[in-house]
Amino acid sequence: MASAGLLAVTCSAPVNIAVIKYWGKRDEELILPINSSLSVTLHQDQLKTTTTAAISRDFTKDRIWLNGHEEDVRHPRLQACLKEIRRLAQNRRSTGEEDSPSDSHTYKVHVASVNNFPTAAGLASSAAGYACLAYTLARAYGVDNDLSEVARRGSGSACRSLYGGFVEWQMGERSDGRDSIARQVAPESHWPELRILILVVNAEKKQTGSTVGMQTSVETSALLRFRAESVVPARMAEMVRCVRERDFPGFGQLTMKDSNQFHATCLDTFPPISYLNDTSRRIMQLVHRFNAHHGDTQVAYSFDAGPNAVIFTLEHTLPEFLAAVMHIFPPEANGDKFLRGLPVKPVLLSDDLKAALGAEPSPGAVKYIISTQAGPGPQTLNNPEEHLLGPDGLPKSVQ
Ligand code: DP6
Repeated sequence: MASAGLLAVTCSAPVNIAVIKYWGKRDEELILPINSSLSVTLHQDQLKTTTTAAISRDFTKDRIWLNGHEEDVRHPRLQACLKEIRRLAQNRRSTGEEDSPSDSHTYKVHVASVNNFPTAAGLASSAAGYACLAYTLARAYGVDNDLSEVARRGSGSACRSLYGGFVEWQMGERSDGRDSIARQVAPESHWPELRILILVVNAEKKQTGSTVGMQTSVETSALLRFRAESVVPARMAEMVRCVRERDFPGFGQLTMKDSNQFHATCLDTFPPISYLNDTSRRIMQLVHRFNAHHGDTQVAYSFDAGPNAVIFTLEHTLPEFLAAVMHIFPPEANGDKFLRGLPVKPVLLSDDLKAALGAEPSPGAVKYIISTQAGPGPQTLNNPEEHLLGPDGLPKSVQ
C-alpha cells in the first residue's frame, strides 16, 4: 500500500438504478432531497467505477484524472467531498490500526478514476464515480464513518451506491442533513432470480443534466411538489414490502409507475424537459404488450434522465423477453456485440407472442444490451497492480 511516503488505495463502486426516483433538492449546497428514494445496485462485473487515491506529505496540490484526462480540482462538488473527508479524518478517534498517519488530513491527494461504461449516458456514472471517490478517500485518510454525506455532496444518488443490493436514501428532516442517509434494505443475495437488462438507446451525453433539470422542476412543477409530499412516502413503504417479500408483480408495477411519474414531472416543468425518445416509448409499449399477453407483470422498465431503458425481470422470463426485444429491435451492424454481460440462452418466439407484440421491427434503434443483476457495494482492490497511479503518484498510462 505505502511506498516512500506515498499511501495509495484502489477501490471500485457500482452504478445504482432508482425504482423510486430522487428528483428535487430542498438544499442545493448540502444536496438534501425533497423525497426519499430507493434503488437497486447493479453488479460491478458489468458496470463500475475504479478509483485510486494516493496521499503524500510531499504532494503540493490536489489533482484528479478522470478517464485519463486531468480535470479541474476546484470543481465545487469535488471540493465539498474533499473538505468533508478531511474534516472526518481530523476528528477520527485514533485506533492505532490504520495505515493512515494521524496528520493525514493535512496531506494533498492525487485521484485517478475510470469507468468501464460511457460517462453521462444516463447510466448514473456520477453515482458510481462519487461513491467510489468517497469510499476510496475514506480508506486513504483512515476514515470509517458513515459515508452518506461525503458521497451525497458529490451527487445525491451517489449515497445509494455505497451499499449493495436494495438501498434506500432516507430524505431526513434536519437542516444540517445529518439524517439524510443511505441504508441497505436487503443484500443482493436476497433476490437472486432478479435480472436486469440495460437497453442502450443512445450513449451520447444527455442534453439537460439532472442537477439543472431538477432545479427547474422544483421551481416550476406543482406536480413535483404533490409527488414528493403526497405520493412518495406511501410508495417507499410499499416498495420496501415488495423487495422484502420478493413480490415481482408489485415491484414491477410500482417501478414503472414511479418512472412514469418522474417523467410526467419533467413534462410539467416549465420549460418542459423530455428525456424519453420514440425508442424509449416503443420499449414501454413492448413491455406492456408482453405483460398483457401473459396476463401478469413479468417485466418492468425504468428510465432515468435519458432515453436508455433499464428492464427488470426474473431469470425464467429473461430468454423470452430478450427474444421479444430482438424481434422488435434487431441489431443493425454490431451483431456480435449486441448482447453484453451475463449470457442469456435465446429462445424462439411463439407466433402468438409475435402477433401480440404487433409493432414493425426497427433495426438499430437499440444500440446494444447489457445483461446484469443486483450486486455488492464498493470493494477495496488489494492487488497493487490494479492501482491507476504509479509510485510517483501520476497516472500509470501517461508515465
Ligand atoms: C433521475 O444524483 O445525478 O437518476 O444530486 O444533482 O447530482 P445531483 O443529481 P443526480 O440525480 C439522479 C436523478 C435520477 C433519479 C435517481 O437516481 O434517483
